[in-house]
Amino acid sequence: MNTRPIPIRRLVFLVGFMGSGKTSVGRLLAERLGWGFADLDEEIERRLGRTINQIFAEQGEVYFRRVERQVLEDFLRRAEQEALVVALGGGTFAQPENVEWLRANGGVTFWLACPVEELIRRCRGMTHRPLFRDPASFRQLYEQRLPHYQRADFCVDADRSDPAQVVEEILKCGVI
Ligand code: S3P
Repeated sequence: MNTRPIPIRRLVFLVGFMGSGKTSVGRLLAERLGWGFADLDEEIERRLGRTINQIFAEQGEVYFRRVERQVLEDFLRRAEQEALVVALGGGTFAQPENVEWLRANGGVTFWLACPVEELIRRCRGMTHRPLFRDPASFRQLYEQRLPHYQRADFCVDADRSDPAQVVEEILKCGVI
């Protein structure tokens, strides 16, 4: 994990693989803190009026990453006005240019870590994730992503059935 000193922050980014609970934990954390909440994928879908699946199928991943970055920039502007919890997409923090830029802009990052078998269990049967094709490719992508997630400021155990427990883990880190 990163060891840079972390001052108290009013901007949080939740990082982690598909199924790690970024949206449900983020919503709950924001509620608990009385902060705003923003979900990157939801906002992309809202702006483009299409689902993530459609965007990947029609315009491809490179286009999706470009929009993802634009929305993220807008969230940072919003964070100048209010304290904010942001649920990133599973691939956002795996784009090296995003990692550097998020750090430079003062957000604190929490990696919601969870064993891949549990993530497969959670995502199996769901059809809204274009990058969940089969367990083997999912495992491979997970392995590729781990070194990126490990660059987050904090790692919390997200292998919990209740998102409220993950929220407690985040609060225990003592930086928000
Ligand atoms: C992606 C994860 C998805 C979504 C898109 C790409 C990824 O977000 O951003 O399908 O690259 O891992 P969730 O992690 O919220 O499913």
